[in-house]
Order: sequence, then structure tokens, then C-alpha cells
Amino acid sequence: MSNELQKFSDPGLPEHIHRKADTDPAAAKKAERQVAILFALSAIGTIVLIGSYIFVKPNKFVFLPIMGDTNVQQALLGVGLAMSTFFIGMAAVHWGKTLMDDREVVAERHEFRSPESDRADFVATVKEQGAMAGLGRRTLIKRSMGVALGLVGLSPLVLLRDIGPLPKKQLETTSWKAGTRLVTDPGDRPIKPADLEVGAVAQVLPELIPGTERTLENVGKDAVLLIRLRPEDFNLNAERLSWTHDGIIAFSKICSHMGCAVALYEQQTKHLLCPCHQSTFDVTRAAKVIFGPAARPLPQLALTLDADGYLVAKQPFTEPVGPSFWERSS
Ligand code: FES
Repeated sequence: MSNELQKFSDPGLPEHIHRKADTDPAAAKKAERQVAILFALSAIGTIVLIGSYIFVKPNKFVFLPIMGDTNVQQALLGVGLAMSTFFIGMAAVHWGKTLMDDREVVAERHEFRSPESDRADFVATVKEQGAMAGLGRRTLIKRSMGVALGLVGLSPLVLLRDIGPLPKKQLETTSWKAGTRLVTDPGDRPIKPADLEVGAVAQVLPELIPGTERTLENVGKDAVLLIRLRPEDFNLNAERLSWTHDGIIAFSKICSHMGCAVALYEQQTKHLLCPCHQSTFDVTRAAKVIFGPAARPLPQLALTLDADGYLVAKQPFTEPVGPSFWERSS
């Protein structure tokens, strides 16, 4: 069979089929009324929305089946907003499908580039105007204009700088330090290895330094998953194995794809699964990505025991946690 492309003739547009409203004035009138009713329903929705905001007391509740005690104002705001937007959409779709011109039109593509003659005219005009303005002769003006225009281009940088302090190393570091105890979340209880059975998984956070508070921002970076396997289940190099303790291994809970919480652990396969886009990480191989869009393993937190036998971090994370939009070392 020849590899040459077979030529085929342009099939053109299919024959235009007239809708009922195109040929029957009564049907067109009916469609027009339907569109008007849909717009009217939308307007009623907006009136409900505004009316409930102004006239309904915010502390009024009513019992509704399934929903239970419901705030009347909130319910009416929701219903009003839903009606106003839904019926506008319905009206527009119905209008387009029944009454607007539905003939297909062919718009030929054309080149965006201007014709050569227009381009040449433009260059000639710029040169001519430049000559008339005396730019060639007035070097002082030419140079000062260059400085002014160059500097004005820098002003957006000042505005950008003004949107807040620079994040510095904040995005790349967490609260985990050498010796930080792992505590349960929730509960803030320090953990001993005996607290975890083989197959168990727990979410932990760094122990709070007295006098400080846990911020949501820190929890978003510090959350760690603690998993206990049998030590012989691991398939790790010597360094990563030394970061585990008696079958207990810890990984950042923040997905290296787009930062969702890696919340699902499959005990049989020993896989961690991110529910957002199904990235799957193999716990036995240092959270190596075995499926999905994540490009990097979950960072592993090195573990050891303190003098009281509690699990602590051996060192901070050795790489940034979370989405890998900045360059990481692994
Ligand atoms: S955020 Fe986890 S797979 Fe996308």
C-alpha cells in the first residue's frame, strides 16, 4: 500500500436544516416567550437574593427535612443565587438553540504577519518621523529618553516587591529539626515505637516548642506519615535504611505533585496513594513514584530515639517538601 496521502475532495457543509421557529412564526413567538420566562425566573432569583439579605434576620432558623435546622437567610441567599445564574444560562442556551441565526459560517484562516509592503511602510514612517524629530542630531535627547524609558520599565519590579516580604527559605524548610519529637495529630502525644503495630500508619507533627503555637501554614508543611512495616520488607540503600527505626519509616504527607495530603495507605501492597491525581508511592522503596503525575518521591524524614525512648527526627528534611516547582536536590 502506498504511503502517499490520499487526496480527498472538500465535503462542504451539510445541508442547513431549518428549525420549527425558523419557518413557523407561532413557534418563534412561543420560543420567545419561553426565553422571556427563563429570564424572568432569573430576575426573581436575584430579587430573592437581595430581599433575603436585606429583610431576613441572620439568626432565623427553620427545620427542613434532610438538612435539619437551617439558617433561613443563608438558604435563601443560596437559592436566589442558584436561580439567578442557572436561569440566565438556560435562557441564553434556549435563545441560541431556537431563535438565533444557526447558519454555519466558514471563516478562512489567514496569516497574522502583515504584508511586506505594510511592514516596509511602517519602517519608512518610523525613520521619517525620527528624522523629523531630529533624533539623529539631538543625541542628548536621544540618550536621556533611553534612560527614562529604561527606568520606567523597571517600575513594575518595585510594585512586585511591594506585594509582600520575600519568602526566602520559608518554602524550603519545615519545623523539623534534629531531636524534634514526633507527636500524634491530633493529641500531641509523643510516640514510642511500641505504640505502632506492624501495618499501622499514623499522622504526626513536630512537638511544639513551649510558648509557641501551631499555625495552619506550618501544619501544611510539617505533616508526616509514620508507617510501620517488618524491617525485612524494606528495599532501601544503607543510608535510607539508617533513617528508619525498627521497621518504622516516616515520609512527608504533602504530595510532591501539587501538594495534596497523601492520605491513603494500602496495607497489602504497602503503597501510599494521593487522592488528588492518583500518584502512588512505594513505601518499601523510599516512597518511589510507581504511578501518577508526581515527579519525585515523598521526602523521607530520618528517625531515631531520644534518651527517653521516644521517636525523634534525626535531622531536618534533606529536601523541600511539597510540590516540586522549585529545583530540588533529588
Ligand atoms: S497532588 Fe498528589 S497526585 Fe496530584
